[in-house]
Amino acid sequence: MTILVTGGAGFIGSHATVELLENGYKVVVVDNLSNSQKASIDRIKEMTGKDFAFHQVDLLDSQALDDIFSKYDFSAVMHFAGYKAVGQSVEMPLSYYHNNISGTLTLCEMMLKHNVQKLVFSSSATVYGLPERVPIEESFSLSATNPYGRTKLMIEEILRDLALSNPSIRIAILRYFNPIGAHPSGKLGEDPRGIPNNLIPYITQVAIGKQPELKIFGGDYETNDGTGVRDYIHVMDLVKGHIKALEYLEKHEGVETFNLGTGTGYSVLEIVNSFNDVTGKQIPYQITDRRPGDIGVCYANPEKAKKLLGWQAEKSLKEMCRDSWNWQVQNPDGFTQ
Ligand code: WQD
Repeated sequence: MTILVTGGAGFIGSHATVELLENGYKVVVVDNLSNSQKASIDRIKEMTGKDFAFHQVDLLDSQALDDIFSKYDFSAVMHFAGYKAVGQSVEMPLSYYHNNISGTLTLCEMMLKHNVQKLVFSSSATVYGLPERVPIEESFSLSATNPYGRTKLMIEEILRDLALSNPSIRIAILRYFNPIGAHPSGKLGEDPRGIPNNLIPYITQVAIGKQPELKIFGGDYETNDGTGVRDYIHVMDLVKGHIKALEYLEKHEGVETFNLGTGTGYSVLEIVNSFNDVTGKQIPYQITDRRPGDIGVCYANPEKAKKLLGWQAEKSLKEMCRDSWNWQVQNPDGFTQ
């Protein structure tokens, strides 16, 4: 079975590609490398000892995509490609709508044209907006607080319409909570360009001395220690959920949505303490104002994925921090050595 992986050079797509190859799938990766590096593709080949085709193609290039769909016989698509920075999406909404939504539309058109019926889509817990309560269930109401989140929400709706219009289409929408960690080998990990926006890459850059201190956004949330709580999930657990989703689509028609989280929330200070333990350093931090648009507490109810996919996250917070740190130490400049 050959799986088309869009965004396979990026953080989650690259780990998913490894997991697919190790589970005996054949893989073709397309990625425009707009926010990733070709080196990650080389690393995957080196780590797995397996070869696969890589095409540097933009999903908006429908002719190039058509050629790829003609060349291979895909049994499913895993769609990771997309812009993902919340702040940037506020500054350049049209690019986000164009890239994420038009890219997905082109991909879906090609799937229909070439009779490819199964799709696993990377969505995000951001589609819950300000959740009514925690833990968050898939049936909760949906909303978005920024253009990035709106692209995920709109794509989810587009996919539901597509499945309604075409009963042979099978789609798994996976709502990620906060993916962190890295491949335990230290060969693959998150490689943000410029100053990181997200907590973990920022902390590892402080720990390695690239940033002076962590700014903790808000110490007055209604949480145990006042700092924000999130459901951090190890990227290896996350990508295992994708394999389970693919297996699920073999047997089930229609569209189904799953939370991929651990079900446990940790505060920013708990994360800092865990990094202190793992690195043997004291991460310097300062508590500042809340970041606009942030919510206080967000964690999943992952029961649906457990019940229907037979999947649950297994790795501990310590493993997540250790693997993030291991990646940072082995690759202080990311993939650009
Ligand atoms: C986690 C916690 C911050 C940085 C975002 C997107 C979401 C998804 C994942 C993906 C929060 C705090 C952070 C820092 C801090 N996007 N923090 N200092 O905001 O939960 O989710 O990334 O593709 O759509 O919204 O993740 O890692 O930015 O923040 O105190 O320098 O860490 O306030 O409580 P978030 P995050």
